[in-house]
This record gives sequence, structure tokens and C-alpha cells, in this order.
Amino acid sequence: MTLDTSRLFSVVAQGLRASEIRELLKLLDRPQMISFAGGLPNPAAFPVDELREVVAHVMTDHASNALQYGPTEGHYRLRNAIAQGMGEHYGAPQQVDNILITAGSQEALHILVTILIDPGDTVITSNPTYLGALLAFRAALARVEGVASDSEGMLVDGLEDALRDLDRQGRCPKLIYLVPTFQNPTGATLSQERRQRIYEIACRRGMLIVEDDPYGLLRYEGDGIPPMKSLDQEQRVAYLGTFSKILAPGFRLGWLAADSNLIRKAVVAKQAYDICANTFGQYCIFEILRKNALFPHIEVIKNLYRHKRDVMLAALEKHFPKQARFNRPEGGLFLWVELPPEVDSLQLLSKAIEHDVAYVTGKPFYTDGSGHNTLRLNFSYADDDQIVEGIARLARVIDLELAVLKSGDRADHVGIF
Ligand SMILES: Cc1ncc(COP(=O)(O)O)c(C=O)c1O
Repeated sequence: MTLDTSRLFSVVAQGLRASEIRELLKLLDRPQMISFAGGLPNPAAFPVDELREVVAHVMTDHASNALQYGPTEGHYRLRNAIAQGMGEHYGAPQQVDNILITAGSQEALHILVTILIDPGDTVITSNPTYLGALLAFRAALARVEGVASDSEGMLVDGLEDALRDLDRQGRCPKLIYLVPTFQNPTGATLSQERRQRIYEIACRRGMLIVEDDPYGLLRYEGDGIPPMKSLDQEQRVAYLGTFSKILAPGFRLGWLAADSNLIRKAVVAKQAYDICANTFGQYCIFEILRKNALFPHIEVIKNLYRHKRDVMLAALEKHFPKQARFNRPEGGLFLWVELPPEVDSLQLLSKAIEHDVAYVTGKPFYTDGSGHNTLRLNFSYADDDQIVEGIARLARVIDLELAVLKSGDRADHVGIF
């Protein structure tokens, strides 16, 4: 008799559900499909020639260490370079003891959740927020309180209200999770004033701030706002950095910069996950930093993505119906679209996929099940021609949906091309 493995699932595993759009997104492999769905860097943004040289150097000079297990904390020289770099580039200097190298920022999130969250604990996020964080919090059986946000990120008054409400319920949140700069999914950036006020609230309330910052260095216009970590005089901010979007996600390397006590506990937790992050990749990335090659490369990426963002914005302006609102993010990889409330972006997605264009629906990013009429568009991955054609296709699908809704006829449409 075959074993019914479902009977063995833990309580946490029983609560894990594949996302509703997963099945639809399987169709994205079709060759004619234009996808704005993933958050993928463009392969043209990978420094292939530079990396070829770096790999050769690591294999020639460091093979015995680079191919070996490494310390759980990470390659010392890479940690040291990151600690210094955080001072130089973020105004948030760190000691080596404050840095843990992780398998991307997603692992850092997972580790933080493991060492900080008990079932039933409350965490605060903006609403909407990064889906990967929601998944990590939910897997730990945390209760997520989403605070409304606008084009400048989390509303501080909304945060104060939420905290008062939680006080009344006797619930004391341990942490606030934020993607303050070019947020995934909306592209919004938390203003300096709000950063300061949220930091002060966290201090008053004894809460940790988890600052997830994969996109902060990808600013295409406007004045930079330093990470919240730069406000941090008391190691109250656990900062998540990653090489995924500024180098290559295939390395699976990022870092956690936090209080050394928290780092020590994180190291013990990480030993149980993967012993250490990819050692070979750490040697390669250290070499890129040692050669001062990272920041010139980031300039190349910024030029590429600024252009792609502008191509997408121009196409949206040209083709999208005026009832569809979209923002103009100053950096990052995503643009956010709000359709009229009568449009359901999940229903629309199946129609869009029929016509070979895809996006990610907004609702899964919301903590309260709202956002049915929103969607996220990635502009970094597709070719310029595909961006123009894909937005034109999507606009036609939206136009038709609006016409169908207006006529009160909800039947599926065919042959819009
Ligand atoms: C806000 C945010 N956090 C974390 C991650 C995970 O990145 P990494 O590749 O570093 O694990 C992503 C990836 O898109 C992201 O958008």
C-alpha cells in the first residue's frame, strides 16, 4: 500500500497553500508569451565577462577554500567588505560581527522568522507588502497586521492606529517589516519623514524594524533617501541586503546586518538550514568588490532599467485606458496598476494569458484580501519590443473587459485581435 504522505504533514505544512495564480503562470512557458510577471533581472544585466575572469581567478588562487565548506557566518573578507560598504554607501557603518552572509535575503527573512516569531506573534507590515515575506510570516503562524500605505509608503497615522488597536487587544508586535525603497510590489518609496517617525515609534515601542532592501541601489531618478539602517543608533534595524538584483540571483547570496546578539542566534539557526551560504559564490563576489567592479556595474544596470521603465511608461501612456491608473517609480523593477473597482485582475489575467501577455495580480500582496483590481508589472526582464507589444496587448484586454462590464455582459470574449 502506498504511503499517504499528506497524513504526515505538520500543522505548518497543512497551512501552506500554492498560490491561486500558480496554475495560470505555468502557461508562461509558451514561446509567444510576453511576461511582466516575474521579478527577474534582465540577463543583459549580468556581468558575464567580468565574472568569467573572477571565476578563473578564484579557481586559480583560492580553489581549496572556495570549494570547501565555509564558516556559517560567511567568508570573513566578504563580511568585512560589506560592513565597510554599509558605512561608505549607506551611512550605516557596521562591525564584522554585525554581518551574516545568507542564501539571498529570502533566507535571511526565514532565519529572522525562526529566531523571533512564535505561533500567534504579531508582525506589522505595510499593506500591500512583499509576498515572500507574507509567506515566511504565515509559515511561522504569525498574525500579520497590514497598515495602509500610499505612494510614500506606510501611513504613519495608520501605524499609530493599528498599534492602539493592538494595545486594546493585548497584542504586542515584535517587529515591523518594511521594503522602504522601491517596494515590491508597488515601487513606492517611504519618505524620509515617515522613516524617521516609524523609527521613533519602533524605539518607543521596543520593536525591531526589518528593512528589506533589494532595490535601494537601483535608483533611476530623483534624490536618494538613505536606508532606515542609517538612522539606527541602537541596532534596532535588521537590514536585509542582497546581490540578486545588483549582480545575479543565481549566486543566491545576500546578507543580514543586525545586532551582534541577533546575528549569533541567526548563525545557530542557519547551521540547521544549510551549514553555510554558497562558498564559491562568496569568493567570487568578494573578488568583484575587491576590484571595485560592483558600483560601475550598478551604473550599467541602472541605465538599462531606466530605459526599460521609460519604454513601459511610454507604452502605458499611449495604450492604456484612462480609467487604469499607474505610477512612475523612481527605481526598482516594478510598476503598479490600479484598475477600476469593477475589474478583477485575476479574472482579467486568464484573459490576458489567452492573448499571450502576463502580469502578477495585486491581491496576494495584500494582508486583508483587498486589492482585487490591482496588478504588478515588471519592466526589467522583457525586451523593449516585447514591452511595447505586451502593453498594447494588455491594454486591448483591459479595454475589452471594461466594455464587457459596461454592457453588463460577463461572457468570455474571443477574437480581440
Ligand atoms: C522585497 C524582496 N525581498 C526579498 C526578495 C528575495 O531576494 P533574494 O534573491 O535576495 O532572496 C525579493 C525578491 O524579489 C524581494 O523583492
